[in-house]
Amino acid sequence: MKNYIIANWKLNPATYKQSKRILRDYPKTAPLGAEIVVCPPDVFLKGVVGQFKNRFHWGAQDCFWEDRGAYTGGVSPAELKNSGAEYVIVGHSERREVWSETDEIINKKIKALIKAGLAPILCVGGGMEARKRKLKITLLIGRQLNNDLKGISLSALKKTGMIIAYEPVWAIGTGRPASASYAGEIAELIRKNLDKKYGAKFSKSTPLIYGGSVTGPIAAEMKQQPGINGFLVGGASLNPKEFSKIVKILK
Ligand code: PGA
Repeated sequence: MKNYIIANWKLNPATYKQSKRILRDYPKTAPLGAEIVVCPPDVFLKGVVGQFKNRFHWGAQDCFWEDRGAYTGGVSPAELKNSGAEYVIVGHSERREVWSETDEIINKKIKALIKAGLAPILCVGGGMEARKRKLKITLLIGRQLNNDLKGISLSALKKTGMIIAYEPVWAIGTGRPASASYAGEIAELIRKNLDKKYGAKFSKSTPLIYGGSVTGPIAAEMKQQPGINGFLVGGASLNPKEFSKIVKILK
């Protein structure tokens, strides 16, 4: 299966010029069998796609679920698609926490993305409590996947494909990633859930990636886990040198 490296820039940088500078220093090409997906702030998306179109694949960090209308501040899947996005991150823990997004909201967004022909990058994962108790994380991941994908058929999902990112909240931005074996265990848990819901063929062909304080060394360890198909990179994706190290590991 292909490997994915998703660069999630979050609310950075402040200027279009800086965005271009970061991308200029990114790897010139992705390793064979891997795809680099850059998710800059929406306001810079169209510009950087124009400048660096064929070097990378493109995504957005979130979307609204309606196509158009009186929704002040909303950005629709169609608008993102027309700006060059192929992927959209949904259900990131920062959206779940800071914007109080529920599984119901995430479900609406995934449906809207598929309708627009964009592939969702669905983030799941729990906090410290879930880390300590195996049963808790099993139930939590099962509940998030069930509710986020409620009413979404296999044939609908097959149209766009989907990437699932396991992102433990305690590892995001802390400099303390999950261990490779733990991330591998959770990837297996996610795959089992997908298998039950959509069958073995789909679950085997769905990329499962890890996110949370990814840098070169942990990426190298995680690469040894056959169930992990890449990384969602936050902080390190703003540093082209560190990001290049992560990309190189997937060679
Ligand atoms: P981080 O962020 O790499 O800075 O921990 C990952 C994410 O939140 O997507």
